[in-house]
Amino acid sequence: MKIILTGDRPTGKLHLGHFVGSLRERVRLQNSGEFDKIFIMAADAQALTDHAGTPAAVRENILNVALDYLSVGIDPKKSTIFIQSQIPELFELTAYYLNVVTVSRLERNPTVKNEIAQKNFESSIPAGFLCYPVSQAADITAFDANIVPVGEDQTPMLEQTREIVRKINELYGEVLVEPEILLPKNKICCRLPGVDGKAKMSKTLGNCIYLSDDSKTVAEKVREMYTDPLHIKVSDPGHIEGNVVFTYLDAFCEDKKTVEEMKEHYQRGGLGDVKVKKFLLEVLEEILNPIRERRAEYENNPEEVWKILEEGTLTAREKASEVLARLKHAMKIDYFK
Ligand code: TRP
Repeated sequence: MKIILTGDRPTGKLHLGHFVGSLRERVRLQNSGEFDKIFIMAADAQALTDHAGTPAAVRENILNVALDYLSVGIDPKKSTIFIQSQIPELFELTAYYLNVVTVSRLERNPTVKNEIAQKNFESSIPAGFLCYPVSQAADITAFDANIVPVGEDQTPMLEQTREIVRKINELYGEVLVEPEILLPKNKICCRLPGVDGKAKMSKTLGNCIYLSDDSKTVAEKVREMYTDPLHIKVSDPGHIEGNVVFTYLDAFCEDKKTVEEMKEHYQRGGLGDVKVKKFLLEVLEEILNPIRERRAEYENNPEEVWKILEEGTLTAREKASEVLARLKHAMKIDYFK
């Protein structure tokens, strides 16, 4: 069996960084027909580990993220889309996994460490936040997932999941499946820079192009995009390193030959930013237009989206309860069976 599980925290709308980093690949995997099951999760419980005060925003973003999934081409007939918090089995699994993980191991998790620094939690780290890698291990193992397509920042989570799986299997017998990470092949796609040239496209930095942006907004963002500050006159030789317009062409344009020719011309001098940006805008619009069309269909029908989520959650719960029962049996804590 080849089973995929992946997901996102519903903390905002998804952007082009998500698209090249994971969404595009998920659709490709879904349509390859190579997988027996695909589970895609709105990780609302994980979002609440650092947004406990704003559950209404998390709720709203579940709908946003689901719309993003459906509009990029995740097909509910082929993939199970579900909501993490509605599967109590995940919390039970987490409770048992917590006993095989040390606090110091959690404090060493590089992604968690980074986030703690970024969020200025210092000495007031929510316990649930520190432990979210363990709940993520539950998310993955509850579906017997062996393939987890995610961005590079999730590598430490997968390592920690694999450690938990080995420990549980060592203690109770071979009950859990050890997952493998699946990273995007194209290096640029692991970390798409923001439109301002900063290292990462991120909501907090305010340098995103959202999948839900309209044509006018995207055109504006491309027009203001960071290029080469030394390329003043069109005739000046330009630099392509750190030039976001070319980075995006590498990430989004299928026609590699044209991109290579433009790069040479730009470096030689004589190719202006306006022209390259115009080309990039065409490339982006070609990707975004079908996404916008599908979004418009679902946006007018939020009940249908909630229904897809409800049905997906039922299916997902069935699988998770099977795995939980298997673990409890292996631990001999299925007392009333
Ligand atoms: N940590 C992921 C993120 O921040 C979301 C997530 C939660 C996830 N559980 C998961 C991803 C399990 C993959 C597998 O986007």
